[in-house]
Amino acid sequence: MSVVRSSPPPCSSAVLCNVECEPSASQAAENLRFSKLCGISAARLHGSRKRLVLCDGRARWNSLKPIKAKDDDDAGSDYSRKCSVMSNENVKQIKEMEDSDSLWNENRASFSGKNPCQVSNVGNSTNILWHDCPIQKRDRQQLLQQRGCVVWLTGLSGSGKSTLACALSRSLHARGKLTYILDGDNVRHGLNRDLSFRAEDRSENIRRIGTLYIINSQTSYDLTSGEVAKLFADAGLICITSLISPYQKDRDACRALVPEGDFIEVFIDVPLHVCEARDPKGLYKLARAGKIKGFTGIDDPYEPPSSCEIVLQQQQGNGFKSPCEMAEIVISYLEEKGYLRA
Ligand code: ADX
Repeated sequence: MSVVRSSPPPCSSAVLCNVECEPSASQAAENLRFSKLCGISAARLHGSRKRLVLCDGRARWNSLKPIKAKDDDDAGSDYSRKCSVMSNENVKQIKEMEDSDSLWNENRASFSGKNPCQVSNVGNSTNILWHDCPIQKRDRQQLLQQRGCVVWLTGLSGSGKSTLACALSRSLHARGKLTYILDGDNVRHGLNRDLSFRAEDRSENIRRIGTLYIINSQTSYDLTSGEVAKLFADAGLICITSLISPYQKDRDACRALVPEGDFIEVFIDVPLHVCEARDPKGLYKLARAGKIKGFTGIDDPYEPPSSCEIVLQQQQGNGFKSPCEMAEIVISYLEEKGYLRA
């Protein structure tokens, strides 16, 4: 499978990349038939195509589209001309196939056009080719008896994200569900150790943990390769992220590339004065004393989610909800939405 960067059209929807997949067994057989008819090598025919489009600020994969033609590698030859010659010569034969073969019917629209088929350049990685594996997400989910997703915990430092992440992981583990926690403090010990707390580094922190694209300019789009949470969700895991993730646009961008519904944003809504009174790491005190600059909630903003799947407030009447009680709220959501079965 190869990734082909394309220029986006001048409207609110834009093509980010095309992805070509290996042909399925039935497609391969059909390709062979077609190649004989066309008088070309079956190796030139490819399987199917997915297209990643940016539509009104959200990235989506559109449906698979069969590919029946590709650029000819041989200098001077013109594959689309060959196809049209073939069409004229074999019009009766094609008509018969059209009538008898629904796959052909689906594919005929792409007969006349040339489709891109080439190794791709992604960021600084040039000439790379995506290889697909027959074992897919649904197979892994079947094995695990769960559905992969991202549970994105956001809130101020000291709001209890890490504690909730652990409680959630423990409860799900007890139910035989596979989880993995990506905790901001922990990931900054390794993968993200090169990042500071400047706004652009925080965005980069979220980009690596989540999965998002950067719009480099109005005409060029670049699919980044961070994708940790997305990879884990694709592995079939329930990936729990625990990051302040203070900026709405960064959280929205992570949501955009995870399949619809699989990004579950959970706002741990604990007010600043409560977090500051707790101050488990003594960092608020240092921030107030001016010894830490750009501390979230003090001299750097936290943008509460405008719309998220779950809001957790610790206070309940006169009492407080325990981390286990809060974890149960998230688990009920996962249960209801079918994430705890395949
Ligand atoms: S994020 O803003 O980039 O999402 P992240 O969740 O990875 O932050 O890390 C937050 C943790 O880093 C806090 O819990 C705290 O321990 C530590 N930290 C150090 N400096 C800062 C800062 N300036 N603002 C917020 N947290 C900080």
